Amino acid sequence: MDRGPDSPKPRARWGTRLGFVLAASGSAVGLGNIWKFPYITGEYGGGAFVLVYLGCILLIGLPLMYSELIIGRRGGKDVLGALRALTRHRGPGGRILSVLTGTLAVGSGFFILSYYSVVAGWAIHFLVVSLGITSRSPDGAEATFLALVGSSALSVLWHSVFMLLVIGVVARGVHEGIEFLCSRLMPALVGILLLLLVYVGLTGGLALSVEFLFRPDFSKLSGEAILEALGHAFFTLSLGMGAMVTYGSYLKRDTYVVRDGVTVAVLDTVIALLAGMVIFSVVFAAGMEPGAGPGLVFVTLPDLFLDMPGGTLFGVAFFFLLLFAAWSSGLSLLEVVVAYFVDEHGFSRTAASWLFGALIWGLGLGSAVSGDFMDFFDNLTTRYMLPLGGLIIAVIAGWLLRPADREAGFLSLGDAGTPLARAWTLIIRFVTPILVLVVLLAKMGILDRLGFLRTGG
Ligand code: PHE
Repeated sequence: MDRGPDSPKPRARWGTRLGFVLAASGSAVGLGNIWKFPYITGEYGGGAFVLVYLGCILLIGLPLMYSELIIGRRGGKDVLGALRALTRHRGPGGRILSVLTGTLAVGSGFFILSYYSVVAGWAIHFLVVSLGITSRSPDGAEATFLALVGSSALSVLWHSVFMLLVIGVVARGVHEGIEFLCSRLMPALVGILLLLLVYVGLTGGLALSVEFLFRPDFSKLSGEAILEALGHAFFTLSLGMGAMVTYGSYLKRDTYVVRDGVTVAVLDTVIALLAGMVIFSVVFAAGMEPGAGPGLVFVTLPDLFLDMPGGTLFGVAFFFLLLFAAWSSGLSLLEVVVAYFVDEHGFSRTAASWLFGALIWGLGLGSAVSGDFMDFFDNLTTRYMLPLGGLIIAVIAGWLLRPADREAGFLSLGDAGTPLARAWTLIIRFVTPILVLVVLLAKMGILDRLGFLRTGG
């Protein structure tokens, strides 16, 4: 840690560049990749949806990823503090936008973690069931799942365990806690995923699965699918709520944020696709349909594991995978909140972690006992708060930052940097905000009312 002569408190830092990349990938790779991406891809018909999703990662995900990282690195503080520092020359307008975005970001971290933890808790439950520690319902996975969701006590138990896992690590610190854990979880996660892939490669279903994911059938593509892909690009890359701003703020000044941002986005995408390949192989090998919806991972798969050779082991590995992914993402959700209270309000890291972790746990009790409560916070954050946060961050990055701050990340790329910086500026100024605005209006049902699109959900 460096302690400048005039900085009263040393600010936390990542130990190594690889440590940062693993922590940021840990944030990105989560339930969104292993639970949500496969089931929405299944519902929206496969290949064509995947293509649109890849387009969204390119046009919205990557430009925003760079924006958040560079804002964090140049601002050197929590979301609100970093934005305020970088828009100071814009007067009150900059300050108002910073406070708005900062508040939105902290609120999103708070709300998302509250229900994310409950779903992560389900993964722990299934892991424990797969390990044979508690008994599985004799009537199959659906009954196991319904018993879990229907039993407030069980849901609360696993939600509490998950929150303790997250708080314990964040309280230890950026380097000693988050980086330490992610440096172990991420390689394990990739290792498990590759083993599962080898397994399905040997036992069948892989060819059908690859065809489903990579052969686009555009007749299946609806306006609703496109919106879902846009919205998911935010969630899966942890964008729109300052997670990457906060992680970027612990970087050294000379870090190559362009390359690291691309690495994180590519890793996130590859892992989502691999998870999809594994899951659909199992589904197709059993002759089932891919469109099972949210129950794909918690109902369909556990049932199929029962009939697979080596299925118990496969199940244990799979739920470890899900838990590791959720854990490393949960850390970043809490870190956004903790960094804000540490940097802006002088809390100690330990106090902020336990206090706000406890409050988030309390809010999550609602999601643990009520599906409607969970849906409310899920919709509120993924439909409105993340896109709105992303929109403002794009506007700030594209229009309000000083050119020196804006382009700092491209300098390290040498000659290739200038054209890339130009392309990024164009995209972040025009393309990203317009696309995000369309998602936002559509999700609010406004385009619907104007008769543009049928969005349904
Ligand atoms: N990216 C995580 C996932 O895919 C979720 C997340 C969203 C984490 C926002 C942090 C911030 O599950």
